[in-house]
Amino acid sequence: MAVCPGNSFLHGNFLHIISRRGRGYEYTEEVCPWRRQMRNVSRGDFLNRTPANMSRNHRVFRSVPDACYLTDRPYSSHCNDECTRDNKLLRSMPGFVKIVEVGPRDGLQNEKDIVPTVVKVELIKMLVSSGLPIVEATSFVSPKWVPQLADAKDVMEAIRTVEGGRFPVLTPNLKGFEAAVAAGAKEVAIFASASESFSKSNINCSIEDSLTRYRDVALAARKLSIPVRGYISCVVGCPLEGVVSPSKVTYVGKELYDMGCYEISLGDTIGVGTPGTVIPMLEDVIDVVPIDKLAVHFHDTYGQALSNILASLQMGITTVDSSVSGLGGCPYAKGASGNVATEDVVYMLNGLGVKTNVDLGKLMLAGDFICQHLGRQSGSKTAIALSRIRGHASKL
Ligand code: HMG
Ligand code: MG
Repeated sequence: MAVCPGNSFLHGNFLHIISRRGRGYEYTEEVCPWRRQMRNVSRGDFLNRTPANMSRNHRVFRSVPDACYLTDRPYSSHCNDECTRDNKLLRSMPGFVKIVEVGPRDGLQNEKDIVPTVVKVELIKMLVSSGLPIVEATSFVSPKWVPQLADAKDVMEAIRTVEGGRFPVLTPNLKGFEAAVAAGAKEVAIFASASESFSKSNINCSIEDSLTRYRDVALAARKLSIPVRGYISCVVGCPLEGVVSPSKVTYVGKELYDMGCYEISLGDTIGVGTPGTVIPMLEDVIDVVPIDKLAVHFHDTYGQALSNILASLQMGITTVDSSVSGLGGCPYAKGASGNVATEDVVYMLNGLGVKTNVDLGKLMLAGDFICQHLGRQSGSKTAIALSRIRGHASKL
């Protein structure tokens, strides 16, 4: 088969041309015309790989290096060990970053039209198969407050046998915790706020009352040896109160840490932070919570998420939350946009020589899948840019 009639996609470090038939994907055996052209621009640096199984419907036949743009000069985002070793700033980067994918929960909770359970489940499976180690699957919150996630029990039932990932779920109180455990959850997350007004609007209680509830959840979880992750919302700004001082974040952080959270994710819920506000906040929090117990969770409303992540990595953070295709937002934080896109985070980390074990190509397939379902373009700049390559390649 000489002509490539369909799309191409990135799989790990390799770009593949594919054709698409029926419900699944079917890959062409050849990438010939385009491959020849790529051979020219990338000085013969091509690899032919034997067929590899991706998942039920995915087979890979031919491959070429990652992120080579169809311009005069090839470009790869990947940074090799030499470039990191030789550079003082890059040397300070962590060797590995754990990405916590929050797309199926944070990404979808704000969607008005109910996404069918099967679509959520397929999304979760695709995300896991891309190498993401942790995929926040859903929330056991009130269906009146978040109707989109009313099928939490069914989602958990359907992913019970999925291997290769951890699937924490949000639990706002003991009722949610018990429902989550009954549905098979092996890990939960509690979510407090550094802003009093946001706490009230998000979970209908004060910060202190929420901490009391969460102590009960943490205690119940400890008895069952269930790990608890803690979130703090509004770590730099609140949709209702404006600027939030670092001391408020630190206070809630210490409470969550003392009640036994194994990790505390610091959420810029409305995406207003810049390194100028994020760094002082982190400096304050790490006085009471060890840096290796902290994660960062940036919504990207003002396009600051990647710079905030970079600053956080430089300070020693090694866990980053993100959402495939940049989906997301909190229904109780008006005007907030989605989380930073996982594809963009992976692209940046590849460029920094930081390992994630995530296959960008498979991740993009997951992004395509959910964006097609939602009928919208990806919120990931990386996915959009790499899709242009596909578009270009398919015309050759
Ligand atoms: P409430 O109305 O105060 O609850 O809501 P209540 O205790 O008064 O009970 C009222 C009804 O809700 C009762 O049912 C309860 O049984 C039921 P009724 O008798 O009226 O039929 N109920 C529940 N049902 C199912 N699951 C439960 C549950 N609890 C009570 N767990 C509540 C309080 C916390 C439940 C509500 O405010 C809620 O569900 N809030 C969740 C809001 C939410 O999910 N927000 C988005 C997630 S947070 C986020 O996105 C930020 C984050 O990403 C980080 C960042 O970006 O900053 C994590
Ligand atoms: Mg969030």
